[in-house]
Amino acid sequence: MEICAREHPPFLTGVKRVTAGVLATAMLVTLTATTGASQAAAQSDPRAARSDALGVALFGASPGTSGVSLPSSGGSAAEAPPRVDCRRVKCVALTFDDGPGRYTDTLLRHLAKYQARATFFVVGSNVVTYPRVLRRTVAAGHEIGNHTWSHPLLTRLPASRVRSQIARTDRAVKAVAGVVPHLVRPPYGAFNRAVRRQISRPLVLWSVDTLDWRYRNSATVARRALRSVRPGSIILFHDIHRTTVGAMPRVLKTLAQRGYHFVTVTELFGGRPPHVAFRAAPPKKS
Ligand code: NI
Repeated sequence: MEICAREHPPFLTGVKRVTAGVLATAMLVTLTATTGASQAAAQSDPRAARSDALGVALFGASPGTSGVSLPSSGGSAAEAPPRVDCRRVKCVALTFDDGPGRYTDTLLRHLAKYQARATFFVVGSNVVTYPRVLRRTVAAGHEIGNHTWSHPLLTRLPASRVRSQIARTDRAVKAVAGVVPHLVRPPYGAFNRAVRRQISRPLVLWSVDTLDWRYRNSATVARRALRSVRPGSIILFHDIHRTTVGAMPRVLKTLAQRGYHFVTVTELFGGRPPHVAFRAAPPKKS
C-alpha cells in the first residue's frame, strides 16, 4: 500500500514495507479469496486491488456490523443518519489529506456542484492557519478526520506523543469549527499495535491511491483515481496540491456519470466505520 502525503525521505520506503508487513501478518490470511471485482482491479492496478481485497476480506460481510463506539461529542454533520444506503447503491468516499490549505475553497466549490460529501483529514497546524476554510468545510457538510498535529511518523513516537498529536488537533478543530473528529488517518498510513492502543477511534486508510503528491498533473491524478475506483472505495487525495484540486471536476463528473454517490467515510460504513478501514463492501446485487 502506498503512503500518504508529501515527498517521502528514502527511509520511508522501509517504513512502507514494515507497515505492510504488520498488516499482512495480522490480517492477510484470507486475502487469497480474491473477489471478482478485485481480480478485475488487479489487471489495472495490482496495488489498489490488493488493498481492495484486503478490505473485502476484513470487512466484507456487511458494512456497519463491526462495532466501534464513536465519541458522542462533536455534532458534526457526519453524525446525521446516512443519506444513502451504501449497501444498496454505489458509493465512493473521496478523502483529502494534509489541509486545510490555499486550494481547499476551490475544492469545496467543485464538490458543491455535485452535492458531493467528502472527508477531510486535517493537520492541526494547518487548522490554525486556515480556520475559516475549516469552518466552511464543516458548514458544507463534509466530515473532518484527524491527521495529527504535525504529520509525524506515529510508529516512531512514544505513546504520550502519539496521544498529544491527536489531542492537540482535536482541540484545534473543536475550537475552530465546533466539531470533534471521529476518525483518524495516521500520516503515511503507518501504524502498529502500539499506535493502535493509543487511538480508540477508527483508523481510516484507503483502497485507491492517486499518488497525487508525486504526479503533479491533473489529468494523471484523475486517471489514477478513475481507473481503480470500485463501489466502496476510499480514494486518497491531498487538497494541498493545486493539481489535485484541478483533477476533481473530471473525477466528479465521470463518477457521477457512472452512478456513484459521493459520501463521507462514516456514511460509507453506514455510520459505524470499523477499527481499521480500507474500503467498504460493494453493494449487494438485487
Ligand atoms: Ni498526510
